[in-house]
Amino acid sequence: MTTKPLYLEDSYQKVCTAKVLEVDGKKGNCKIVLDQTVFYPEGGGQPSDQGIIKFESGVFEVKQVLLKGDKIIHEGVLKGELIMGDKVECEINWIRRYHNMQVHSAGHILHEAAKELLPNIVPIEGQHGKKAFIKYQGKIKEEYQLQIKEKTNNLIDKSLAINTEFVTLSELKKRSPWIPERLPTNKPLRIMWVEGYTPIPDGGTQVKSTSEIPYIDTVNFEYEEDCTKVIYYLEIKKKESTIVSSDLSPEVLLNIKNEALVMIMESKDPEELDRLRVHYLGKNGQLTQIAHEIRDAEVGRVFNEAKIAIENALVNTKQPEKISVDETLPGKLPPIGHLHPVTHAIEEISSIFEKIGFVRVRYPEVDWDWYAFEALNMQKTHPARDDIETFFVDVPENKKLGKLVLTPHTSNGQVREMERTKPPIRMINIGKCYRRQSDVSHTVMFHQFEGLVVDEGINITHLKGTIDHFVKQFFGQNRKSRLRPYHFQFTEPSFEVDVTCDICLGRGCKLCKEGWLELGGAGMVHPNVLKAGKVDTTKYTGFAFGWGVERTYMMKSGVKIDDLRLLYSNDIRFLNQF
Ligand code: PHE
Repeated sequence: MTTKPLYLEDSYQKVCTAKVLEVDGKKGNCKIVLDQTVFYPEGGGQPSDQGIIKFESGVFEVKQVLLKGDKIIHEGVLKGELIMGDKVECEINWIRRYHNMQVHSAGHILHEAAKELLPNIVPIEGQHGKKAFIKYQGKIKEEYQLQIKEKTNNLIDKSLAINTEFVTLSELKKRSPWIPERLPTNKPLRIMWVEGYTPIPDGGTQVKSTSEIPYIDTVNFEYEEDCTKVIYYLEIKKKESTIVSSDLSPEVLLNIKNEALVMIMESKDPEELDRLRVHYLGKNGQLTQIAHEIRDAEVGRVFNEAKIAIENALVNTKQPEKISVDETLPGKLPPIGHLHPVTHAIEEISSIFEKIGFVRVRYPEVDWDWYAFEALNMQKTHPARDDIETFFVDVPENKKLGKLVLTPHTSNGQVREMERTKPPIRMINIGKCYRRQSDVSHTVMFHQFEGLVVDEGINITHLKGTIDHFVKQFFGQNRKSRLRPYHFQFTEPSFEVDVTCDICLGRGCKLCKEGWLELGGAGMVHPNVLKAGKVDTTKYTGFAFGWGVERTYMMKSGVKIDDLRLLYSNDIRFLNQF
C-alpha cells in the first residue's frame, strides 16, 4: 500500500480527497496513511506541511508528515473516530507551504548564482526551513556573501520559469552532466530546472517563476570544518505591484490579514517581528498604502479589522528584549533564614546540661492527670488542677490515670523518666506547656526545661552547684544565683531560684528593684514522687528544677522583649532581629 504524492505533480494543489489506508493510535497522538495526499513530507531540506484532514465524524490536525518507503505518514491529533476505508478531505496550511516553496526555490536560484560565481563548488546539504542554507565543500571567501546575494537577486528579477517534470534516469543523464549518486532506478524521477539552466533531480515543492520569490535580504557564511554554510534570508514578502482601488476586495484584505498573522505567530526573533511591523504598518507599509485606495465602506470595515488584528498580534508576540548583563557583578545572595530565638535558646540550654551528663528527653505535651499532677503529690483541690488554670482535653477519663491535660509544666516528665530508666538519673526534659494566661509576660503556650537528678546521696549542694553552673554558662561568669524558700507539692524543701540583674549585678536598680530576677522553681524531690516512680526512697534522693525557656532567654543580657507574645506572632520584622 503506497501513498500517491500529489504535491510532486502540482505544488499549488491545496486540497484533495483521499481514502484512509492505516490508522495507528487513537485520539490524541495518532498516525494516518492515505492512498494519496497533498501533504508534503519532511525531506530534501524542506520542512513538512501542516494542515487538517476532515472526515464525517471529526478532524485530524496534521502536525508533521514523514515519508517512510512509499508511505506518507501524517502525524497529529485526532478528534473523532477514523477507520480504514474512510473518505477524508485534506487541506494544507497554504501560507506555510507557499513560504516553504519560496524558500526552497530561492535555494535553487542561489545555487545557480553561486555556481556562476564559483563554477567548481560542490553542494553537500541544503535546508530550506526557518534557517535556510546550502552547505558547500571548502571555504568560500567572505567577500562572496554580497556577490552571491546580488547575483541571486538578479536572477530572481528576471522572472525565470521554474519547471518540474517526470523523466527516466536515462533521459536525465542525457539532459544533465551531473547526476547525484543513489537515485532510484525503478520509477520515474522528478526533476526541476530553472529556465536556461540544467535540470537536477528534486522532490520538493517549487514556485512556478522566480517572480514569486521575495528578494534575498542577507547572505551569511558560517564556517565549519572544511565547508561553508551559505545562510540566506528572504525579504519578508515579494513586493506587490502597487495595489489600486479596483483590486481591493474584502477577500484580498482577509488574505493579507491571515498571512500576516501566521507570519507574526511563526516569527522567531524580535528582528523578524520588527521587519514584519515595517512591512505592514510602516510609512510605506502594505496597509498604509492600501489605506489611500479604499473607496468602499465594506472594504474599509474589513481593512480596520485587519489592521487592528495585525497591530495586536505584533504587540502580543513581542519577544523579550535582550538585556545586557554585567557578568562581573557579584550575584544577589538569596535571603537566608535562621532558627527561631526560642529554638536557639533550647539548643543552648540542652548543650550546657548535656556537657555535665544530663540526657535530653521529651515527654508528651498532652498527658494524663496522673503524670501532670497526681504522681507529683498534688492534692485533688490544688488550684492547678482546676480548669480555670489548666486546659483539660475533652476525652473520657482513664480509669487509672485520670483526665487528659495539656501539660501545664514539664514536671510530668519526672515520673515518666523514673519509669523509663533506673537511677542514676540525669534528665533534661524540654517541651511545650500550656496555661490559661496571656499578657505581656505570658503566652498561652510556652516552653519549660525540667531538670531531674536522682542518685545516691544527692543533696541541696548538688542542686545549688548545678544551678550556679548553668547560670554562669548561660548568663555569664559575673552573674550569681540564689535559692529563696518557696513551696511546691512535689519538692521538699522547695525554692525559687533568682539570678542577679544584668544591669546592676545584684545591687538593685530601677529595672529590677531589688537586684534579683526570678528564674523559676526548684527543690529536693518529694519522697512521694520517688515512690510514685517506684524509686527506692531508702537508697535514693534527688533534686529537680523547672524553668521557662522564654523567660530565661529574656533575662539573658542584651535581649529585651517588651511583650513576650511577639515571639509567637510570626512577624518577620521582629524575628529578623535575632
Ligand atoms: N513545675 C514547676 C512550675 O511549673 C517548677 C518546678 C519544677 C518546681 C521542678 C520544682 C521542681 O512552676
